[in-house]
Amino acid sequence: MLPGTEDKKHLILTGDRPTGPLHLGHYVGSLRNRVKFQNQYEQYIMLADAQALTDNMENPAKVHDNVMEVALDYLAVGIDPAKSTILIQSQIPELTELTFYYLNLVTVARLERNPTIKQEIVMRNFERDIPAGFFTYPVSQAADISAFKATLVPVGEDQIPMIEQTNEIVRRFNRLANKDILVECQALVPEIGRLPGIDGKAKMSKSLGNAINLNFTAAEIKAAVRNVYTDPLHLRVADPGHLEGNVAFIYLDAFDEDKAGLQEMKDHYVRGGLGDSIVKARLEGVLQDLLKPIRERREEFAKDRGQVLQILKEGTRKAREIAAQTTDEVKAAIGLKHF
Ligand code: TRP
Repeated sequence: MLPGTEDKKHLILTGDRPTGPLHLGHYVGSLRNRVKFQNQYEQYIMLADAQALTDNMENPAKVHDNVMEVALDYLAVGIDPAKSTILIQSQIPELTELTFYYLNLVTVARLERNPTIKQEIVMRNFERDIPAGFFTYPVSQAADISAFKATLVPVGEDQIPMIEQTNEIVRRFNRLANKDILVECQALVPEIGRLPGIDGKAKMSKSLGNAINLNFTAAEIKAAVRNVYTDPLHLRVADPGHLEGNVAFIYLDAFDEDKAGLQEMKDHYVRGGLGDSIVKARLEGVLQDLLKPIRERREEFAKDRGQVLQILKEGTRKAREIAAQTTDEVKAAIGLKHF
Protein backbone atom coordinates (compact mmCIF):
# COMPACT_ATOMS: atom_id res chain seq x y z
CA MET A 1 0.00 0.00 0.00
CA LEU A 2 1.12 3.53 -0.64
CA PRO A 3 1.42 5.89 2.28
CA GLY A 4 -1.84 7.68 2.99
CA THR A 5 -3.85 5.47 0.69
CA GLU A 6 -4.85 2.68 3.08
CA ASP A 7 -8.04 4.22 4.36
CA LYS A 8 -10.24 3.93 1.34
CA LYS A 9 -10.56 2.03 -1.86
CA HIS A 10 -9.03 4.25 -4.49
CA LEU A 11 -10.08 4.26 -8.08
CA ILE A 12 -7.09 4.38 -10.37
CA LEU A 13 -7.27 5.66 -13.90
CA THR A 14 -4.25 5.25 -16.08
CA GLY A 15 -3.61 4.80 -19.74
CA ASP A 16 -1.47 5.12 -22.82
CA ARG A 17 -1.70 6.63 -26.24
CA PRO A 18 -1.62 3.63 -28.56
CA THR A 19 0.94 4.82 -31.10
CA GLY A 20 3.47 1.99 -30.99
CA PRO A 21 4.55 -1.16 -29.18
CA LEU A 22 5.34 -0.75 -25.50
CA HIS A 23 8.95 -1.08 -24.34
CA LEU A 24 11.00 -1.55 -21.16
CA GLY A 25 10.58 2.15 -20.33
CA HIS A 26 6.82 1.60 -20.10
CA TYR A 27 7.45 -1.58 -18.13
CA VAL A 28 9.35 0.14 -15.29
CA GLY A 29 7.40 3.37 -15.54
CA SER A 30 3.92 1.94 -15.38
CA LEU A 31 3.20 -1.63 -16.45
CA ARG A 32 4.78 -3.45 -13.54
CA ASN A 33 3.04 -1.10 -11.12
CA ARG A 34 -0.30 -1.77 -12.75
CA VAL A 35 0.18 -5.49 -12.22
CA LYS A 36 0.59 -4.73 -8.51
CA PHE A 37 -2.11 -2.06 -8.25
CA GLN A 38 -4.78 -4.31 -9.68
CA ASN A 39 -4.65 -6.33 -6.45
CA GLN A 40 -5.01 -3.26 -4.24
CA TYR A 41 -7.25 -0.84 -6.08
CA GLU A 42 -10.09 -0.59 -8.52
CA GLN A 43 -8.08 -0.02 -11.68
CA TYR A 44 -9.19 1.31 -15.08
CA ILE A 45 -6.70 1.33 -17.93
CA MET A 46 -7.50 3.48 -20.92
CA LEU A 47 -6.33 2.98 -24.48
CA ALA A 48 -6.36 6.69 -25.31
CA ASP A 49 -6.85 6.39 -29.05
CA ALA A 50 -8.79 9.66 -29.38
CA GLN A 51 -5.98 11.50 -27.61
CA ALA A 52 -3.44 9.75 -29.84
CA LEU A 53 -5.23 11.19 -32.87
CA THR A 54 -4.61 14.76 -31.67
CA ASP A 55 -1.15 14.54 -33.22
CA ASN A 56 -1.66 11.59 -35.57
CA MET A 57 -4.71 12.58 -37.56
CA GLU A 58 -2.77 12.06 -40.79
CA ASN A 59 -2.28 8.42 -39.85
CA PRO A 60 -5.39 7.01 -38.17
CA ALA A 61 -4.51 3.44 -39.20
CA LYS A 62 -1.44 3.59 -36.96
CA VAL A 63 -3.58 4.45 -33.96
CA HIS A 64 -6.23 1.87 -34.87
CA ASP A 65 -3.71 -0.96 -35.21
CA ASN A 66 -1.86 -0.08 -32.03
CA VAL A 67 -5.01 -0.40 -29.92
CA MET A 68 -4.71 -4.17 -30.41
CA GLU A 69 -0.91 -4.19 -30.08
CA VAL A 70 -0.94 -2.30 -26.79
CA ALA A 71 -3.81 -4.41 -25.47
CA LEU A 72 -1.68 -7.50 -26.22
CA ASP A 73 1.23 -5.91 -24.34
CA TYR A 74 -1.05 -5.30 -21.34
CA LEU A 75 -2.26 -8.89 -21.25
CA ALA A 76 1.27 -10.19 -21.84
CA VAL A 77 2.73 -8.44 -18.78
CA GLY A 78 -0.01 -9.84 -16.56
CA ILE A 79 -2.70 -7.20 -16.49
CA ASP A 80 -5.65 -9.40 -15.69
CA PRO A 81 -9.02 -8.40 -17.18
CA ALA A 82 -10.72 -10.00 -14.18
CA LYS A 83 -9.00 -7.46 -11.93
CA SER A 84 -8.39 -4.45 -14.18
CA THR A 85 -10.84 -2.87 -16.57
CA ILE A 86 -9.29 -2.11 -19.96
CA LEU A 87 -11.25 0.37 -22.06
CA ILE A 88 -11.06 2.19 -25.38
CA GLN A 89 -11.40 5.97 -25.02
CA SER A 90 -13.04 6.62 -28.41
CA GLN A 91 -15.86 4.20 -27.67
CA ILE A 92 -17.12 6.30 -24.76
CA PRO A 93 -18.74 9.35 -26.36
CA GLU A 94 -19.51 10.85 -22.94
CA LEU A 95 -15.80 11.65 -22.60
CA THR A 96 -15.98 13.84 -25.71
CA GLU A 97 -19.16 15.40 -24.40
CA LEU A 98 -17.61 16.29 -21.05
CA THR A 99 -14.58 17.74 -22.84
CA PHE A 100 -16.83 20.15 -24.75
CA TYR A 101 -18.31 21.54 -21.52
CA TYR A 102 -15.00 21.64 -19.64
CA LEU A 103 -13.44 23.67 -22.46
CA ASN A 104 -15.44 26.60 -21.12
CA LEU A 105 -13.75 26.29 -17.73
CA VAL A 106 -10.26 26.80 -19.15
CA THR A 107 -8.73 29.81 -20.85
CA VAL A 108 -6.51 29.72 -23.90
CA ALA A 109 -3.87 31.51 -21.83
CA ARG A 110 -3.98 28.76 -19.21
CA LEU A 111 -3.54 26.08 -21.86
CA GLU A 112 -0.64 28.03 -23.34
CA ARG A 113 1.06 27.97 -19.94
CA ASN A 114 0.71 24.18 -19.51
CA PRO A 115 4.39 23.12 -19.44
CA THR A 116 3.75 19.71 -20.98
CA ILE A 117 1.86 21.17 -23.91
CA LYS A 118 4.49 23.86 -24.36
CA GLN A 119 7.27 21.30 -24.50
CA GLU A 120 5.35 18.92 -26.75
CA ILE A 121 4.62 21.73 -29.22
CA VAL A 122 8.37 22.37 -29.50
CA MET A 123 9.18 18.65 -29.79
CA ARG A 124 6.68 18.22 -32.61
CA ASN A 125 7.77 21.36 -34.50
CA PHE A 126 4.17 22.55 -34.70
CA GLU A 127 5.19 26.22 -34.47
CA ARG A 128 1.97 28.10 -35.37
CA ASP A 129 0.23 25.06 -36.85
CA ILE A 130 -0.95 23.48 -33.64
CA PRO A 131 -4.00 21.27 -34.09
CA ALA A 132 -6.68 22.72 -31.80
CA GLY A 133 -7.46 19.21 -30.60
CA PHE A 134 -3.85 18.77 -29.55
CA PHE A 135 -3.75 22.13 -27.80
CA THR A 136 -6.82 21.22 -25.75
CA TYR A 137 -5.97 17.61 -24.96
CA PRO A 138 -5.33 18.43 -21.28
CA VAL A 139 -9.06 19.20 -21.08
CA SER A 140 -9.91 15.87 -22.66
CA GLN A 141 -7.62 14.20 -20.15
CA ALA A 142 -9.46 16.03 -17.35
CA ALA A 143 -12.66 14.55 -18.75
CA ASP A 144 -11.12 11.05 -18.73
CA ILE A 145 -10.02 11.33 -15.14
CA SER A 146 -13.06 13.06 -13.70
CA ALA A 147 -15.59 10.92 -15.58
CA PHE A 148 -14.41 7.97 -13.51
CA LYS A 149 -14.03 10.06 -10.35
CA ALA A 150 -10.51 8.67 -10.20
CA THR A 151 -8.61 9.56 -7.04
CA LEU A 152 -5.20 8.19 -8.02
CA VAL A 153 -3.61 8.73 -11.42
CA PRO A 154 -0.27 7.00 -11.99
CA VAL A 155 1.65 9.07 -14.52
CA GLY A 156 5.18 9.97 -15.48
CA GLU A 157 6.64 13.21 -14.20
CA ASP A 158 5.90 14.97 -17.50
CA GLN A 159 2.18 14.45 -16.93
CA ILE A 160 1.94 16.21 -13.55
CA PRO A 161 0.72 19.46 -15.17
CA MET A 162 -2.21 17.46 -16.57
CA ILE A 163 -3.22 16.45 -13.07
CA GLU A 164 -2.98 20.04 -11.85
CA GLN A 165 -5.08 21.22 -14.74
CA THR A 166 -7.63 18.47 -14.06
CA ASN A 167 -7.96 19.50 -10.44
CA GLU A 168 -8.44 23.13 -11.42
CA ILE A 169 -11.30 22.12 -13.69
CA VAL A 170 -12.77 19.90 -10.99
CA ARG A 171 -12.70 22.75 -8.45
CA ARG A 172 -14.12 25.28 -10.89
CA PHE A 173 -16.91 22.95 -11.86
CA ASN A 174 -17.82 22.06 -8.29
CA ARG A 175 -17.89 25.74 -7.35
CA LEU A 176 -20.15 26.45 -10.29
CA ALA A 177 -22.42 23.54 -9.41
CA ASN A 178 -22.33 24.48 -5.73
CA LYS A 179 -21.92 20.78 -5.04
CA ASP A 180 -19.00 18.34 -4.98
CA ILE A 181 -19.97 16.42 -8.07
CA LEU A 182 -16.46 15.87 -9.41
CA VAL A 183 -13.56 14.50 -7.38
CA GLU A 184 -9.99 15.79 -7.18
CA CYS A 185 -7.20 13.34 -7.90
CA GLN A 186 -3.63 12.76 -6.90
CA ALA A 187 -0.74 11.98 -9.25
CA LEU A 188 1.26 8.88 -8.49
CA VAL A 189 4.77 9.18 -9.90
CA PRO A 190 6.86 5.98 -9.94
CA GLU A 191 10.24 5.88 -8.20
CA ILE A 192 12.14 4.75 -11.24
CA GLY A 193 10.40 7.18 -13.48
CA ARG A 194 12.28 6.93 -16.66
CA LEU A 195 14.66 4.52 -18.25
CA PRO A 196 17.37 5.81 -20.60
CA GLY A 197 17.55 4.48 -24.13
CA ILE A 198 20.17 1.89 -25.08
CA ASP A 199 22.16 4.78 -26.62
CA GLY A 200 22.38 6.60 -23.27
CA LYS A 201 19.88 9.32 -24.22
CA ALA A 202 17.73 10.40 -21.30
CA LYS A 203 14.60 8.65 -22.44
CA MET A 204 13.80 5.33 -24.05
CA SER A 205 11.42 6.06 -26.88
CA LYS A 206 10.32 4.35 -30.03
CA SER A 207 10.74 7.53 -32.05
CA LEU A 208 14.39 7.82 -30.99
CA GLY A 209 14.98 4.20 -32.06
CA ASN A 210 16.67 3.39 -28.76
CA ALA A 211 14.05 1.11 -27.21
CA ILE A 212 13.87 -2.53 -26.22
CA ASN A 213 10.29 -3.48 -26.99
CA LEU A 214 8.38 -6.01 -24.92
CA ASN A 215 7.72 -8.02 -28.08
CA PHE A 216 11.39 -8.26 -29.12
CA THR A 217 12.61 -11.71 -30.16
CA ALA A 218 15.53 -13.29 -28.29
CA ALA A 219 17.81 -12.29 -31.18
CA GLU A 220 16.60 -8.68 -31.09
CA ILE A 221 17.24 -8.52 -27.35
CA LYS A 222 20.74 -9.88 -27.89
CA ALA A 223 21.50 -7.30 -30.58
CA ALA A 224 20.12 -4.44 -28.46
CA VAL A 225 22.20 -5.43 -25.44
CA ARG A 226 25.30 -5.55 -27.61
CA ASN A 227 24.65 -1.89 -28.49
CA VAL A 228 23.99 -0.71 -24.94
CA TYR A 229 25.99 2.39 -24.05
CA THR A 230 28.45 1.78 -21.20
CA ASP A 231 31.51 3.79 -20.17
CA PRO A 232 33.41 5.45 -23.02
CA LEU A 233 36.47 5.83 -20.77
CA HIS A 234 36.62 2.11 -20.04
CA LEU A 235 38.91 1.21 -22.92
CA ARG A 236 40.81 -1.74 -21.52
CA VAL A 237 39.56 -4.43 -19.18
CA ALA A 238 42.10 -3.37 -16.56
CA ASP A 239 40.86 0.25 -16.52
CA PRO A 240 38.58 1.34 -13.70
CA GLY A 241 35.00 1.69 -14.98
CA HIS A 242 32.34 4.26 -14.20
CA LEU A 243 28.76 3.56 -13.20
CA GLU A 244 27.26 7.02 -13.73
CA GLY A 245 25.38 7.17 -17.01
CA ASN A 246 26.35 3.57 -17.69
CA VAL A 247 23.19 2.17 -19.24
CA ALA A 248 24.15 -1.49 -18.69
CA PHE A 249 24.25 -0.90 -14.93
CA ILE A 250 21.17 1.35 -14.96
CA TYR A 251 19.24 -1.50 -16.57
CA LEU A 252 20.70 -4.04 -14.15
CA ASP A 253 19.61 -1.79 -11.26
CA ALA A 254 16.10 -1.77 -12.69
CA PHE A 255 15.73 -5.47 -13.48
CA ASP A 256 18.33 -7.64 -11.71
CA GLU A 257 16.85 -9.13 -8.57
CA ASP A 258 20.17 -10.47 -7.27
CA LYS A 259 21.18 -7.20 -5.63
CA ALA A 260 24.16 -8.68 -3.77
CA GLY A 261 25.59 -10.26 -6.91
CA LEU A 262 25.05 -7.02 -8.78
CA GLN A 263 26.84 -5.01 -6.07
CA GLU A 264 29.82 -7.35 -6.33
CA MET A 265 29.91 -6.85 -10.07
CA LYS A 266 29.74 -3.06 -9.68
CA ASP A 267 32.61 -3.05 -7.19
CA HIS A 268 34.73 -5.13 -9.52
CA TYR A 269 33.91 -2.88 -12.48
CA VAL A 270 34.83 0.29 -10.58
CA ARG A 271 38.08 -1.30 -9.32
CA GLY A 272 39.06 -2.31 -12.82
CA GLY A 273 39.61 -5.73 -14.32
CA LEU A 274 36.08 -6.41 -15.46
CA GLY A 275 35.22 -6.16 -19.13
CA ASP A 276 31.99 -4.78 -20.56
CA SER A 277 31.24 -8.09 -22.25
CA ILE A 278 30.79 -9.78 -18.87
CA VAL A 279 28.45 -7.05 -17.67
CA LYS A 280 26.49 -7.27 -20.89
CA ALA A 281 26.25 -11.06 -20.63
CA ARG A 282 24.66 -10.65 -17.19
CA LEU A 283 22.30 -7.99 -18.54
CA GLU A 284 21.33 -10.15 -21.47
CA GLY A 285 20.50 -13.06 -19.18
CA VAL A 286 18.34 -10.85 -16.96
CA LEU A 287 16.45 -9.34 -19.90
CA GLN A 288 15.96 -12.66 -21.68
CA ASP A 289 14.51 -14.13 -18.47
CA LEU A 290 12.23 -11.13 -17.98
CA LEU A 291 10.95 -10.91 -21.54
CA LYS A 292 10.60 -14.59 -22.48
CA PRO A 293 7.39 -15.27 -20.50
CA ILE A 294 5.98 -11.90 -21.63
CA ARG A 295 6.67 -12.74 -25.27
CA GLU A 296 5.18 -16.21 -24.89
CA ARG A 297 2.00 -14.92 -23.25
CA ARG A 298 1.73 -12.27 -25.96
CA GLU A 299 1.96 -14.91 -28.68
CA GLU A 300 -0.70 -16.96 -26.93
CA PHE A 301 -3.17 -14.03 -26.75
CA ALA A 302 -2.33 -12.96 -30.30
CA LYS A 303 -3.65 -16.30 -31.59
CA ASP A 304 -7.16 -15.22 -30.67
CA ARG A 305 -7.60 -11.51 -31.35
CA GLY A 306 -11.36 -11.99 -31.26
CA GLN A 307 -11.07 -12.89 -27.60
CA VAL A 308 -8.91 -9.81 -26.95
CA LEU A 309 -11.52 -7.60 -28.66
CA GLN A 310 -14.16 -9.19 -26.46
CA ILE A 311 -12.13 -8.24 -23.36
CA LEU A 312 -11.89 -4.65 -24.62
CA LYS A 313 -15.57 -4.54 -25.47
CA GLU A 314 -16.63 -5.75 -22.05
CA GLY A 315 -14.20 -3.38 -20.26
CA THR A 316 -15.44 -0.45 -22.33
CA ARG A 317 -19.07 -1.32 -21.63
CA LYS A 318 -18.46 -1.39 -17.89
CA ALA A 319 -16.45 1.84 -17.99
CA ARG A 320 -19.03 3.64 -20.08
CA GLU A 321 -21.69 3.09 -17.42
CA ILE A 322 -19.60 5.05 -14.94
CA ALA A 323 -18.73 7.83 -17.40
CA ALA A 324 -22.38 8.15 -18.43
CA GLN A 325 -23.48 8.46 -14.81
CA THR A 326 -20.99 11.27 -14.15
CA THR A 327 -21.96 13.00 -17.39
CA ASP A 328 -25.63 12.95 -16.33
CA GLU A 329 -24.70 14.57 -13.02
CA VAL A 330 -22.56 17.19 -14.77
CA LYS A 331 -25.25 18.07 -17.29
CA ALA A 332 -27.95 18.27 -14.65
CA ALA A 333 -25.80 20.66 -12.61
CA ILE A 334 -25.40 23.11 -15.49
CA GLY A 335 -28.97 23.12 -16.72
CA LEU A 336 -28.57 20.64 -19.53
CA LYS A 337 -31.22 18.26 -18.36
CA HIS A 338 -34.48 19.13 -20.03
CA PHE A 339 -36.56 16.01 -19.77
N1 TRP B 1 -1.60 11.41 -21.68
C1 TRP B 1 -1.34 10.04 -21.34
C2 TRP B 1 -0.04 9.64 -22.05
O1 TRP B 1 0.38 10.26 -22.99
C3 TRP B 1 -2.44 9.09 -21.76
C4 TRP B 1 -3.74 9.37 -21.09
C5 TRP B 1 -4.90 9.79 -21.68
C6 TRP B 1 -4.02 9.25 -19.70
N2 TRP B 1 -5.89 9.92 -20.75
C7 TRP B 1 -5.37 9.60 -19.54
C8 TRP B 1 -3.26 8.88 -18.58
C9 TRP B 1 -5.97 9.62 -18.28
C10 TRP B 1 -3.85 8.90 -17.34
C11 TRP B 1 -5.20 9.28 -17.19
O2 TRP B 1 0.55 8.65 -21.68
